[in-house]
Amino acid sequence: MRLLSLLLTFLHFGGYDFVLARSSDCFKLSILDLVTNSQCPRHFAPQSFRTWRFDRHQDLATSFPLDPIAQNFVRQVPGCLFSVTYPIPLKSKLQLVAFSKPVLNDILGLTDAATSEVEFVEFVSGSLILPGSLPLSHRYGGHQFGYWSGQLGDGRAVTLGKFVSHLGERWELQLKGSGRTPYSRHGDGRAVLRSSVREFLCSEAMFHLGIPTSRAATLVVSDDPVVRDQFYNGNPRTERAAVVLRLAPSWFRIGSLEILAKNKELELLQQLLDFVIKNHFPQVDIKDKDRYLALYSTIVSQTAQLVAQWQSVGFTHGVCNTDNFSLLSITIDYGPFGFMDEYNPRFVPNTSDDEGRYSYENQPDVGYFNLEKLGDALKPVLKRSQVKQLQNILKGYERIYKDKFMELFRRKLGLLTIDEDDENLAAVFLKIMEDTKADFTMSFRELGEIDLREILNTKEVPKKYWALTSMADHEWFWNWVDKYKIRLKQEGIDEATRQILMNKTNPRYILRNWMAQEAIERANSNDFSGVQELLRVLEHPTDWEPEAERAGYASRPPDWSKSLKVSCSS
Ligand SMILES: *[C@@H]1O[C@H](CO)[C@@H](O)[C@H](O)[C@H]1NC(C)=O
Ligand SMILES: *[C@@H]1O[C@H](CO)[C@@H](O)[C@H](O)[C@H]1NC(C)=O
Ligand SMILES: *[C@@H]1O[C@H](CO)[C@@H](O)[C@H](O)[C@H]1NC(C)=O
Repeated sequence: MRLLSLLLTFLHFGGYDFVLARSSDCFKLSILDLVTNSQCPRHFAPQSFRTWRFDRHQDLATSFPLDPIAQNFVRQVPGCLFSVTYPIPLKSKLQLVAFSKPVLNDILGLTDAATSEVEFVEFVSGSLILPGSLPLSHRYGGHQFGYWSGQLGDGRAVTLGKFVSHLGERWELQLKGSGRTPYSRHGDGRAVLRSSVREFLCSEAMFHLGIPTSRAATLVVSDDPVVRDQFYNGNPRTERAAVVLRLAPSWFRIGSLEILAKNKELELLQQLLDFVIKNHFPQVDIKDKDRYLALYSTIVSQTAQLVAQWQSVGFTHGVCNTDNFSLLSITIDYGPFGFMDEYNPRFVPNTSDDEGRYSYENQPDVGYFNLEKLGDALKPVLKRSQVKQLQNILKGYERIYKDKFMELFRRKLGLLTIDEDDENLAAVFLKIMEDTKADFTMSFRELGEIDLREILNTKEVPKKYWALTSMADHEWFWNWVDKYKIRLKQEGIDEATRQILMNKTNPRYILRNWMAQEAIERANSNDFSGVQELLRVLEHPTDWEPEAERAGYASRPPDWSKSLKVSCSS
């Protein structure tokens, strides 16, 4: 049997001072008694929405110079990182489609009851501005599809402000789909329901898979019309505008630094770097003269690990431009992403990405490319001797990626120790999966559910293990199972423990496109229970769930799912 080192193909380098927002002119409306803009209490029990507020201490608005122009029109914004941009309220009836209980309760410190307050829904859709909030849209740049694109920026998002959770964690709250900003270019700054459902569900799904990501708190839909040519084929359709309230410790991207370096705004570049270190990289000493190298090294390492985590669940981001790569190495900007059904390394979720630049197998390379661009953005603030070290740091990416990849795939196979032949074991399993077009998620899951002793006796895979049944047709399959059995024996792990371990590691439910599509279609006709049910299932991706089984979430994907195209126009 030929043992392929498939890993190489993965890494072929090369309170109550409410302000109602009406466009950019806003007026104050005293509803109840005024609350001062003091810091949030450090410890609080889940509270009512009426005492909830933002924290102005070292927030973005007080830490950086702001665009002096207050009007909201599309323009170049040199010399600053943010423009004050009020959300543009939706005009029609607002409906709360879904909310994430863990985000609401555990981060925002709110009870579920808060969601039934009218002001809450107004807040999470951009109609109501809360105390301490100065909404900002962010100017950034980026390399898109390999080329420098100049100024980009938040075209449909505004950051409302900073919130400190009861654990003392910093969270920046952002609305997506809240209308035009100075960075909207040709867009209207709105988001349609379908793309918002996908972002909402996927953010939470990724979190519960243990993958660093921005979070989603709420999803609101209106009847405000937005016209989109979903498949760019000359068939525009009117859809409904939706808004997601999303959270991240920071929304800064590689492109946030790039634009400052390209435009030689070096003072601001240094200021942003120091802000990021102080607030988000406690492991980097702010007084160290090599601090930017230390920052780079940390980001290189964390990004390599993030990409390995994407690979481990078959997730393809779809638009890995430098403007969509977080400095904190969390997954952000869910657009035409996809989880693979059948394993295909060349899987591309964006149907217009004909070249396959952002295919599943290219993600490690693209991560490298993006980090190279990050290095370029740091050069203007480094000494010549430090610039030389950038390349050495980046060289470490491949090793870190491979180590993390193997750590994760070992765990997926139920292995805790390291053996030099594990790479082959993983690679051959993947190769068989590829050749037989077996389902990526369920092949691993079923391998952990099946009793190896039994199948080795009968040399037959029971039909209910539908993904493994495909794999068993491959000429290498039984040979592979033998090798796996020997490896497990060497590990000293018994069958029951292996099954428990693998069940905990390998998800049974992921956000497959067809699942999202069904929830979207129901939501389009105002039945939001599909989104809510799917969210509940995805909050426990490894736990067997009768309802999820009935819905077929762990079954062979329906035939219609193969012809499903994910649109890029959101
Ligand atoms: C991610 O990248 C795509 C393509 O470059 C861009 O159109 C989109 O605006 C980015 N996403 C966000 C939310 O910034
Ligand atoms: C999908 O790929 C095409 C071709 O590379 C690109 O023009 C388009 O912007 C991509 N879609 C998104 C949402 O980035
Ligand atoms: C693993 O999960 C399956 C359902 O997905 C369940 O039937 C099985 O009992 C679990 N195995 C163990 C050992 O927990």
